Amino acid sequence: MKLTHLNGMGALVTGASSGVGRLLALRLAAAGARVGLVARRREVLEAVANEIAECGGEAHPIVCDVADVKQVATAAAEAQDVLGGVDLLVNNAGYGHHRTFLDWDVEDMERMMRVNYLGALYLTKALLPAMVARGRGWLVFMASVAGRIAPPEESAYAASKFALVGLAESLSIEVERRGVHVLTVCPGAIRTPFFGAADLARLPPVARRQMIEPEVVVDATLEALARGRREVTVPRGIGLAYVVRALAPGFTRRQVRRTTLDALRGEHIRQGRDRTGP
Ligand SMILES: NC(=O)c1ccc[n+]([C@@H]2O[C@H](COP(=O)([O-])OP(=O)(O)OC[C@H]3O[C@@H](n4cnc5c(N)ncnc54)[C@H](OP(=O)(O)O)[C@@H]3O)[C@@H](O)[C@H]2O)c1
Repeated sequence: MKLTHLNGMGALVTGASSGVGRLLALRLAAAGARVGLVARRREVLEAVANEIAECGGEAHPIVCDVADVKQVATAAAEAQDVLGGVDLLVNNAGYGHHRTFLDWDVEDMERMMRVNYLGALYLTKALLPAMVARGRGWLVFMASVAGRIAPPEESAYAASKFALVGLAESLSIEVERRGVHVLTVCPGAIRTPFFGAADLARLPPVARRQMIEPEVVVDATLEALARGRREVTVPRGIGLAYVVRALAPGFTRRQVRRTTLDALRGEHIRQGRDRTGP
């Protein structure tokens, strides 16, 4: 179902204090939507809301840790109330790391699954019934290319995004005839505060070179909604790799290894540093 105009719509964006979510909230508000801004940092959300208000838009900060099901239930009720109903839910909150499975502590792996996957599930569970009752709604899941092809040193992150892609694909078929459209967005590496210095250093050189700006992801998401698309990979060219993997899994695996672990090792050797690990 195409989302061609946003004027007067209620839109809830998680992870709206930074990066893609912040920019998307600004764009939705500029197009006339009333926007609910979800994240944990109240003062940052208030700054985004003020920025929107200064441009004549309407935005409401809703502080919530999406990993906490009780906080999500309260946030969903608040959003329904202040927005007068949620027509568009963008499940965007998330974080990631680049580290080997052996180095990754299990508490953070669990937390990543709760934030990136269960957070989206909780909020969707809370808001979908009203969309179905109205016979109208849009759900966006901000997944990742790592939710379609899992690179090394991203095991817990890729698992959370594979889970999100699976949830969205199944749900999409269930609800499409009830007026609810599901869009899954799979971006490559984006230049946002998502990457701390340590993670940036472990990012494969090809991903560092091909990093896209958050504007590109926001444009692609809005365009995909306007066209009624169900999945979009940004940049589009990466989507070709899914086809190659289906046809030649061994070749794809070697390519992934060559452009990640081997490339990083080569880079470290050239810089005179030792790289331990697989
Ligand atoms: N950057 C990339 O390369 C990349 C690539 C593919 C996919 N993605 C996905 O795109 C989405 C947005 O990432 P970004 O690049 O814009 O990252 P970002 O700039 O770090 O923003 C992440 C947002 O998520 C919020 N957040 C994190 N944990 C949360 C929690 N427990 N509860 C509520 N909000 C939480 C943060 O707000 P608070 O800290 O205020 O809570 C922040 O607003 C994520 O799902 C990410 O996995 C990113």
